[in-house]
Amino acid sequence: MKIIMLGAPGAGKGTQAKRIAAQYTIPHISTGDIFRANIKNNTELGQKAKTYMDKGELVPDELVVDLIMDRFKQADCTNGYVLDGFPRTIPQAEALDAALNAQGENVDFAINVEVPDENIINRMSGRRACVGCGATYHIKYNPTKVEDVCDACGEKLILRDDDKPETVKNRLSVYHEQTQPLIDYYEKKGVLAEVDGTKDMEDVFNAIVSVLGK
Ligand code: AP5
Repeated sequence: MKIIMLGAPGAGKGTQAKRIAAQYTIPHISTGDIFRANIKNNTELGQKAKTYMDKGELVPDELVVDLIMDRFKQADCTNGYVLDGFPRTIPQAEALDAALNAQGENVDFAINVEVPDENIINRMSGRRACVGCGATYHIKYNPTKVEDVCDACGEKLILRDDDKPETVKNRLSVYHEQTQPLIDYYEKKGVLAEVDGTKDMEDVFNAIVSVLGK
């Protein structure tokens, strides 16, 4: 099953993608996580990506497309994947379609997690990310057992640089301009499903499972 998660920054794509990956035994591929791992390891790709990410802008398509095409070659992608943060522009979606069509395949579902802008800033300022394993929490909606300590690996939690309110505002405007058109793109292909991302996490997941099937 090949699934794409759509939605504004902070809509809950990553939260739901992790659960979908576990439920359907497919890998969760997050381009944001891949870039953050590269930044942490100070790779050339990470250094390039950081200059865009810190401003809330998109990393150029050619860097992202090469990276994701390489990732698809790994053995764990044989039965599909859930893509979180890719595609994010029409050229990225077209590159994905071209690669899939060349193998006689298609995207099966594009799930749009719908959350209005006014909820997003609040969510982002409360998000905490683990510096060790990348797990994400929320100080109010999904708190850790011990404050600022990751439940999964015990490392400390931080506020992501790009989760500061000024950067979040820019990420939202970049989202509306460059990523929102993908909703129409996948609707025209007949694979779009919309879920209400303002509900609590469990309800959102149940809505997604009812779209994907058990
Ligand atoms: P990326 O990491 O993909 O960021 P994003 O799309 O902005 O999404 P987020 O990870 O911020 O949010 P999310 O929707 O996953 O929400 P989450 O589940 O964490 O990308 C970062 C940057 O990398 C981009 O700005 C760009 O520069 C670059 N990049 C990445 N991919 C790219 C691409 N393809 N092309 C070009 N550039 C690219 O939830 C958010 C918070 O809310 C959490 O605290 C969570 O606990 C909480 N929460 C989740 N669901 C709920 C709920 N139902 N109720 C209450 N709280 C909830």
